[in-house]
Amino acid sequence: MNKGNLVYEGKAKMVYETDEPDKYLVYFKDDATADNGVKRGTIEGKGVVNNKISAYFFKLLKDNGIANHFLETVSEREMLCKKLKMIPLEIVVRNVSAGSLAKRLGLEEGPALPMPIIEYYYKSDKLGDPMFNRYHILTLDIATIDEMNELEHLAFSINTIMKERLKAKNVDLIDFKLEFGRDEKGKLILGDEISPDNCRFWDMTTKEKMDKDRFRRDMGGVSEAYQEMLDRLTL
Ligand code: TMP
Repeated sequence: MNKGNLVYEGKAKMVYETDEPDKYLVYFKDDATADNGVKRGTIEGKGVVNNKISAYFFKLLKDNGIANHFLETVSEREMLCKKLKMIPLEIVVRNVSAGSLAKRLGLEEGPALPMPIIEYYYKSDKLGDPMFNRYHILTLDIATIDEMNELEHLAFSINTIMKERLKAKNVDLIDFKLEFGRDEKGKLILGDEISPDNCRFWDMTTKEKMDKDRFRRDMGGVSEAYQEMLDRLTL
């Protein structure tokens, strides 16, 4: 399988064509950004760890009936994925008050929410990824009502599957962000990545953060925390 043209370069990943038209090669970088690109840096070894953690969760989800784009691990930093037409939405699922939710609602960080909640954000660098609701999504013709129902059902199912697995590793799943695409038949498929870059993981006992908040908040020990998450999942 040969690496073709670069089709997309994001903050943390590069996506290449391959010699198979329905497959992409995803390369995980060490680059990290926060605050909509205002804060920039690198987290040594992050690409390798995120490639492995994402593969772990994509396999877990597939085993539990959740269709996703992961096909196989190609190298330390590369995975082969099914080509999707991505939907420009970030779907955030939250179990615990933290981050922008705590700020928006004037809550402390840490308490469990009465029920898991979902938020939509529109992926637009120009607009700064604003929070969207169902009416905004219909207005811009991004997804139908049926698709939103399915996206939310999938997001809650993914939450249940990941929460249960992480509990066995003494990790609390605080919140996370998902991105979906459509395959050639229009079926909704989970894409992007699932890693400490786009999830909040807290040690259940000590509440220590094992995710990108350590970078966002200049807490130190960032690479070590990512490695600890990989070790918890795989050792
Ligand atoms: P937030 O509390 O900053 O809104 O983040 C909620 C979750 O979504 C957190 O796990 C980080 C993730 N996230 C991303 O992966 N990308 C983003 O652009 C944002 C805003 C959040």
